[in-house]
Amino acid sequence: MKNVLVVYYSQSGQLKEIAKNISEPLLADPDINVVFHQIEMEKPFPFPWNKELFFDAFPESFLQIPAKLKPVPQKIMEMKYDLVLFHYQVWFLSPSIPINSFLKSPEAKILLNNTPVVTISGSRNMWYLAQEKIKVLLKQNNALLKGNIALVDRAGNLISVITIVEWMFSGKKEKHLGIFPLPGVSQKDIDDSVKFGHTIISALNQNNFDTLQDKLLLQDAVRVSPYLVAVDKKGNFIFSKWASFIIKRTEKRKKLLKIFVIYLVLAIWVISPIVYILHVLTYPFKINKNKKAVKYYKGVESA
Ligand SMILES: Cc1cc2nc3c(=O)[nH]c(=O)nc-3n(C[C@H](O)[C@H](O)[C@H](O)COP(=O)(O)O)c2cc1C
Repeated sequence: MKNVLVVYYSQSGQLKEIAKNISEPLLADPDINVVFHQIEMEKPFPFPWNKELFFDAFPESFLQIPAKLKPVPQKIMEMKYDLVLFHYQVWFLSPSIPINSFLKSPEAKILLNNTPVVTISGSRNMWYLAQEKIKVLLKQNNALLKGNIALVDRAGNLISVITIVEWMFSGKKEKHLGIFPLPGVSQKDIDDSVKFGHTIISALNQNNFDTLQDKLLLQDAVRVSPYLVAVDKKGNFIFSKWASFIIKRTEKRKKLLKIFVIYLVLAIWVISPIVYILHVLTYPFKINKNKKAVKYYKGVESA
């Protein structure tokens, strides 16, 4: 009998549905015992969000400052797992606060120690550097990263900014104004994610995860856009300045966050199109560099 732990946090239920679908084939196997753990905050984040609280989550998300979680039930802690399916979402180019808090908890150290892990993210589209931060946290827990599946909103970058904001602030996954595409990971990609479960099962049964990522890639588990990687890198650089500036100025936090929001709107609507034009113009000179980046972010190795 193999034991598999499925860890997730989800506000809208999107990542919970993905977790359910991926583990469906494992649940159907009588030789696999699947245990679910939903990460729960001691003080839950709101959903839907209001504007103030949404941006108030920025400094702690980006600086990866953990918050208090409800303890992992003793029954879950008592078992040793053969595999952990770790589902996470990205907040402000970083693992979300609940995810970061879990990975920094003493329980994670016990559960992940010397254990193969497959990471599964459900984000807008900017998960690349967040995955690098997850790799660091997994290493600190002595976990063995064996696979990665990155599910994203496949609409254009700026379209998905509009639709995700509407979704986060209304709590409803619907077509904004009746003309925009649905926000988030498409229902088709969510439904199709069952296929990853089949691939994971065969690796688990053979006790060999070495070729798992290659097999997941054949199933379109990860798509890498060098343009989005470039935006993610630039965003991380700028966010690091803002976050460390805001966190130190408690009494001015509200005011500074308001200025940050104005900056962010400008960055998304003015700076990111400029980055795109530069990306297209310089593309012929960066073919090798981009190829390397695509290979790296599709893999599970650390730089
Ligand atoms: C505060 C906040 C910040 C977010 N920042 C990002 C981001 O930087 N990059 C990204 O791809 N998605 C971002 N998202 C989208 C989430 O990764 C995720 O797709 C969405 O919140 C749905 O997840 P759920 O399963 O928890 O409902 C953000 C969401 C929230 C609530």
